[in-house]
Amino acid sequence: MILLDGKKTSADIKEEIALEVGELKRLEKKVPHLAAIIVGNDGASLTYVNAKVKACERVGFESTLIQLPEETTEAELLNEINILNVDNDIDGFIVQLPLPKHIDEQKILLAVDPTKDVDGFHPENVGRMALNLPTFISATPFGILELLDRYNVETSGKNVVVIGRSHIVGSPMSILLSQKRKVGNATVTLAHSRTQNLEEITKKADIIVAAIGIPEFLKADMVKKGVVVIDVGITRVADPTKKNGFRLVGDVAFDEVAEKSSFITPVPGGVGPMTIAMLLKNTLIANKRRNS
Ligand code: GUN
Repeated sequence: MILLDGKKTSADIKEEIALEVGELKRLEKKVPHLAAIIVGNDGASLTYVNAKVKACERVGFESTLIQLPEETTEAELLNEINILNVDNDIDGFIVQLPLPKHIDEQKILLAVDPTKDVDGFHPENVGRMALNLPTFISATPFGILELLDRYNVETSGKNVVVIGRSHIVGSPMSILLSQKRKVGNATVTLAHSRTQNLEEITKKADIIVAAIGIPEFLKADMVKKGVVVIDVGITRVADPTKKNGFRLVGDVAFDEVAEKSSFITPVPGGVGPMTIAMLLKNTLIANKRRNS
């Protein structure tokens, strides 16, 4: 079994990005600038956004964190987005999800300038992704493609089962892996909560992407020997023995599934760190597009 080490791989990618930033500085060009908007005080979201900002600093990007109170109105948030849309210093920005219930997420995502949409969530960019046109591929699916690529995991002609049809992960992952691209050309099944006889389907899979948000959902008796497992799940489970009171659990029963796997991502340290690295990569791409 080979561990698909997202921590190490993301560190490699960040080092490559930092080298490019160094070169931009040497040429006295503008360095990439990422902004992030967060609304409210959700603990997990704050942790993720802070990690994104910190990662920017580490690779030499500029970053701006805009923290808005829970009571922020949709109109106020749209106004903040417009300010970033027209700010020439900002290469890309993200609006951290989920948003408070009184704000229409679709309306917000539509307001982001697609050329600055480094999350790749704007419908125009989702459409471009689906058509295999140049775009920003969302960080999580982009990170999974990159991880499979760097570990030379063959996807062409393989049976891939994606579990979960979220807009952020499952749906784009199923589209990307079926496309004619370097990491792609797979025969993809997109399974979800209404899928019948899931085990029969997962047992035939060469590669499984688990993205349903149910801790330890994928068990050893659901997979065949030699399977490649990508675990996108990350749920905080109460654990009084831990300093912060919780531990992170993926969608895969890691120990038992690892025994049957050829490659598997750990949680934490698998897909998670890759998403941040790919957000930085998208921001670098946005910076290059704007300045070329
Ligand atoms: N919430 C969970 N994942 C993401 C992400 O990739 N981007 C944003 N903006 N919010 C998220």
